[in-house]
Amino acid sequence: MSGLEGSEAFPERRRPLVSGNWKMHMTHLEAINAVQKLSYRLDRVQRGNVEVSIHPPFTSIRSVQTVIEADELDLEVGAQNVYYEAKGAFTGEVSPVMLAKLSVRYVIVGHSERRQIFGETDREVNLKAKAVLANQMTPIVCVGETDEQRSAGETLEVVRAQLGAGLEGLDPAQVGSAVLAYEPLWAIGTGKNATPGDAQEVCSEIRRVIGESWGDAAAGAVRIQYGGSVKPKNAEAIMAERDIDGLLVGGASLDPDDFAPIVAAAR
Ligand code: PGA
Repeated sequence: MSGLEGSEAFPERRRPLVSGNWKMHMTHLEAINAVQKLSYRLDRVQRGNVEVSIHPPFTSIRSVQTVIEADELDLEVGAQNVYYEAKGAFTGEVSPVMLAKLSVRYVIVGHSERRQIFGETDREVNLKAKAVLANQMTPIVCVGETDEQRSAGETLEVVRAQLGAGLEGLDPAQVGSAVLAYEPLWAIGTGKNATPGDAQEVCSEIRRVIGESWGDAAAGAVRIQYGGSVKPKNAEAIMAERDIDGLLVGGASLDPDDFAPIVAAAR
């Protein structure tokens, strides 16, 4: 690894990825409507080569996939979570094989709501990331610090530990193909986004850690998203940062009138 900071060492441009995390919103009928409206709105903005993934609840994935395929929309199907076993007696869980069969391309793994509300551990995040990759899908592995950790000056340490544990055992090609999402917990759903500079500082450290552990090729290829209160008014400034390759959007992804300009701002 050279002594350069972040993408100074990796000047190539990675394809931006903007992901809409719908969380527990929208019935399958509402989802169909939202995807059609989004596609109409996206046709009216300049989106360059920005890739867009939509992550509805499990119950809407099939409907969303059907609309995307039938209307040949330029959108990727995503999921918000997955279990790491292929099949078996795991009541209530959904397997990566099932998602892959639905043409799911991106799977969010280790979102802070999964970690905090459902007690998901770094070990589970790691098993899930591996299961997603083993099924030819791409994990979006989420990391981020709490308010208290930031105040205590522990942000980088927390993020480094989550990366090390979450990506343990992956090879450089797998890490390079993955997406990492930096989502400070205090910014999620609060309307309080990280400043572009703060987000860049952490994303640059993420890329440095990837380079140190998995090599320069992985660090140059891995895409890093920022998430936490991304809105049409702040998206462009966040995307202007060197090590930020995309956005993971919660609340503002539910309304195509907000989400389309965010996609355009990521260009
Ligand atoms: P938010 O959520 O955009 O509503 O803050 C982001 C996320 O949780 O991924």
